[in-house]
Amino acid sequence: MNILRLGLIGCGRISKNHFESIARIDEASIVSCCDIDLTKAKESSIKYKIPSFYSNYVDMFDKENLDAIIICTPSGLHPEIGIEAAKKKLHVITEKPIGIRLTEIDELIKTCDHNRVHLFVVKQNRLNATMQLLKRAIDKNRFGKIYMVQSNVFWQRPQSYYDLAKWRGTWEFDGGAFTNQASHYVDALYWLIGEVDSVMAQTATMERKIETEDSGCAILKFRNGVIGTINVSMLTYPKNFEGSITILGERGTVKIGGIAVNQIEKWEFSDYDDDDKFILESNYQPPNVYGLGHLPYYKNVVESLLGNKEGLIDGRSGRKSLEIIQAIYLSAKTGRKIPLPLTY
Ligand SMILES: NC(=O)c1ccc[n+]([C@@H]2O[C@H](COP(=O)([O-])OP(=O)(O)OC[C@H]3O[C@@H](n4cnc5c(N)ncnc54)[C@H](O)[C@@H]3O)[C@@H](O)[C@H]2O)c1
Repeated sequence: MNILRLGLIGCGRISKNHFESIARIDEASIVSCCDIDLTKAKESSIKYKIPSFYSNYVDMFDKENLDAIIICTPSGLHPEIGIEAAKKKLHVITEKPIGIRLTEIDELIKTCDHNRVHLFVVKQNRLNATMQLLKRAIDKNRFGKIYMVQSNVFWQRPQSYYDLAKWRGTWEFDGGAFTNQASHYVDALYWLIGEVDSVMAQTATMERKIETEDSGCAILKFRNGVIGTINVSMLTYPKNFEGSITILGERGTVKIGGIAVNQIEKWEFSDYDDDDKFILESNYQPPNVYGLGHLPYYKNVVESLLGNKEGLIDGRSGRKSLEIIQAIYLSAKTGRKIPLPLTY
């Protein structure tokens, strides 16, 4: 069997989900890992039985015979690492967000296109059983006309979380609560409801000693007329409380809640559908707010790289949430309603 050879860059907190997911997929293997902190790369190599490790990803690209790379570094570095890999004809799988600045993100997409390599962005929440059910209900038109959508991301990130690494809470490498913690939720609103027409927002750094926002609210007007709101705070006392999406439609009301869209709290439609039987079994308890989606996400990526399936979340789709988030920041800064698409 042809096994895909992957190299992982950035052996920090989220890398565990990648090492453990790929270990459960027969058609792919992480053959090398890299971290600027060589001790971390070495520790991962021992723990997950990865044959080689590096402190410099360019060395890894040159010396290893790779098919694709996985980027798990601070977000602001995703585009430059992806561009370097694409130039070497390596497929790129990057953690969310795809990047921080749209110019760099566009350069990454262009370079991947030019070199005919795939670009995947990890948006594992789309694959939650709960979210798949909701998406199916929309696709089957069970709501009729959708009027409103609301998302709340009420989590707790203490100062000690931001102090874990210098990149956290900076504009250059992280972005704020919208870019880091809420980006899955902004992505979900785009994926479920569609293109956004304009954005109005307020953001604030109320408590944490960081450059970026710890809290904010945005109103989204979608092109199909739906009005959406998204409320985000990392100051929720005393711990993560809610990660939810509520949809109000002509013939249906649904709230997917729990701490990370893992629990269907309201599911009511005028007409019965066989999917209604799966509501209870789709609820699950995630080990943390990252959820359990990395494995199904990778199954799709690997199938796509082997040419058997269409990739679910490519660079262009991954870019959408970042564009909406950039519009949120621009609105908060200028006090204006910001129309999309953005021209920079
Ligand atoms: N999909 C999700 O739900 C999810 C969850 C958590 C984090 N993330 C994303 O994953 C990324 C990493 O987050 P984290 O919490 O693991 O951060 P982290 O700080 O724990 O890990 C980042 C690692 O990258 C290394 N690194 C930095 N610069 C590097 C370089 N030039 N070359 C090689 N290694 C480098 C650091 O030394 C560190 O070990 C972020 O983009 C974050 O948004 C996604």
